Amino acid sequence: MPVDFKHVKKQFEKSMADYDNNAVVQELMASKMMGELCKISPEYENILEIGTGTGLLTKYIVRNLKYKHYYGNDIVEKSKEYVKKVIPQADFIYGNAMKIKRDRKFDLIISNAVFQWFENFEKLLNILSCMMMPDGIIAFSTFSPENFQEISNVSGLSLNYKSKDELVCILNKLGFEVLYADGFCKELKFNNPLEMLVHLKKTGVNSLSDKIWSLKHIKGFCEKYNEKYPQTVLTYSPIVIIARLNANPVKVSDN
Ligand SMILES: C[S@@+](CC[C@H](N)C(=O)[O-])C[C@H]1O[C@@H](n2cnc3c(N)ncnc32)[C@H](O)[C@@H]1O
Repeated sequence: MPVDFKHVKKQFEKSMADYDNNAVVQELMASKMMGELCKISPEYENILEIGTGTGLLTKYIVRNLKYKHYYGNDIVEKSKEYVKKVIPQADFIYGNAMKIKRDRKFDLIISNAVFQWFENFEKLLNILSCMMMPDGIIAFSTFSPENFQEISNVSGLSLNYKSKDELVCILNKLGFEVLYADGFCKELKFNNPLEMLVHLKKTGVNSLSDKIWSLKHIKGFCEKYNEKYPQTVLTYSPIVIIARLNANPVKVSDN
């Protein structure tokens, strides 16, 4: 399904007040990624965080890493307020991460639960690699094709998720050495499908569809879900990857 950035931006903006109380899986992902990153190195000069949102990962950065300068980025401008509460001296780069000016070099680019929103992962990584120091680290979490399988089985809606092996293959092609790659599954249980849809809305994920669902649409989804599944379960399937950019990376055209 093509991603409409304006719609994604609007849905995440609306979900911000409720996000932290509902982003249980995103929190697990941030914690796992940070644990693994600290084993590789907890010290960096310049960090760029992509898709800062409400600052969930930013808090892990402050608690666990030593750094000289931190830059945050999000397509939602309000994210700056959340980031500044965590790191008052942070620089905030507002806008699409694909369009960040390539005039600085970072030794760590980090992102939690964001890269699935980019249709072309290879193009994104190619752009980000131009902003990295030789031997710089990229650490990110995203989701595999099994993510939200119940939603795609019932509604046909899904993002263009890549498997762990596909992600590793792209990273290797672009001149990264993969230091860590692992996936896990987390099932969340709900009392009914409507409660599950509310959970998704509160984490900004109702932007899977570019249309606002009518009451009739929601009712139809819930009926179909109940016919297919005896219990309301939502499967998350996160992947955490940490990779180092080789000193002489392969340059692939980003067209
Ligand atoms: C699921 S939230 C994750 C937020 C945060 N990283 C966390 O760990 O909770 C995804 C975030 O990515 C941002 N985002 C989506 N597409 C983006 C893009 N193209 N450029 C920058 N940020 C983007 C959204 O606005 C949202 O804040």
